[in-house]
Amino acid sequence: MTGVGSDLECAVDWLERDEVVAIPTETVYGLAGNALSETAVRKIFAVKQRPAHNPLIVHVAEIARVEAVAREIPRLAWRLLEAFSPGPLTLLLPRSAAVPDSITAGLPRVAVRIPAHPVALNLLHRLPFPLAAPSANPFGYISPTSPAHVLAQLEGKIPYILDGGDCATGIESTVVGFAGEQVVIHRLGALSAERLRAITGSMELRLQDEASPVGPGMLLQHYAPYTPLWLNRGLEQALEHWRPNEIGLIAFAAERDELPVENQVVLSRRRDLAEAARNLYKAMHRLDAMGLRVIVAERLPDQGIGQAVNDRLARAAARSISTDRSGE
Ligand code: TXA
Ligand code: MG
Repeated sequence: MTGVGSDLECAVDWLERDEVVAIPTETVYGLAGNALSETAVRKIFAVKQRPAHNPLIVHVAEIARVEAVAREIPRLAWRLLEAFSPGPLTLLLPRSAAVPDSITAGLPRVAVRIPAHPVALNLLHRLPFPLAAPSANPFGYISPTSPAHVLAQLEGKIPYILDGGDCATGIESTVVGFAGEQVVIHRLGALSAERLRAITGSMELRLQDEASPVGPGMLLQHYAPYTPLWLNRGLEQALEHWRPNEIGLIAFAAERDELPVENQVVLSRRRDLAEAARNLYKAMHRLDAMGLRVIVAERLPDQGIGQAVNDRLARAAARSISTDRSGE
């Protein structure tokens, strides 16, 4: 039985007993457990069916607690923390001895972030340990942005979902590392490259290197619905293969006349990129549940958080290549 509610003490209870609980953050829901407990961390990997070589993000309550899990923190990291925490910024920092090997998958750095969600922060302040939490979806599937998404995917597998409403940002955090004093973006996310650059000046984009991924979670095969998703081929092409009621559309700002309205999700009528990001995973979840032949997605303007949305759409489309013989 999986309970759903806003009872903080209930979540505390389970977490103190090394159980895993779904928690809200501003980006997506997380599958949380005591980051300092091997037992809890093992359960996270098991519930998520995540390969052990894929490391987890550690969530802490405030900047002062970062040093509980990391050491030799670069000056630039402090500046980024001051500028963007709490918020959708994950820093890769040299790990302290307190962090179990399983969290970092044996890597020398630990991923740390301070989530900007009042419920998550209350919970973290209430607990004597930090929380390890990957996104609360089965490995490779779409991240959840509401308790209903978590329940649909993990019912019966976790004791409790702490309800914090719909996620305000809707896209995962930006993962940032350091090469000396140079900032390296490893995963595009809710904190835009432009905003980071305003603090750091220059920086490097080093997204999933498939030969030697910094974290295998950054491989392309991620964030995908079960229905094939097309990003680079348009609706016209889909209509050559299938009937309108077999096709879904994730549109940026307006529906298309060729498809039934119920097969379409408009991300933001006012062309607001933040609103579009907030609605992206909800759109994928809804259309994926319809059993369509294909979901066609429109690319957003490649700026601000639109860049991260395009990145997630590209990954979802890449996943379809292996399953879809018409091939994208
Ligand atoms: O917004 C978010 O970041 C959400 C919420 C729940 O905080 N969490 C999230 O976690 O997206 P997850 O596990 O789905 O993605 C974490 C990413 C993965 O790409 C992983 O490989 C990378 O961060 N990562 C984690 N620890 C790492 C490490 N020690 N070194 C390199 N990459 C790491
Ligand atoms: Mg994830």
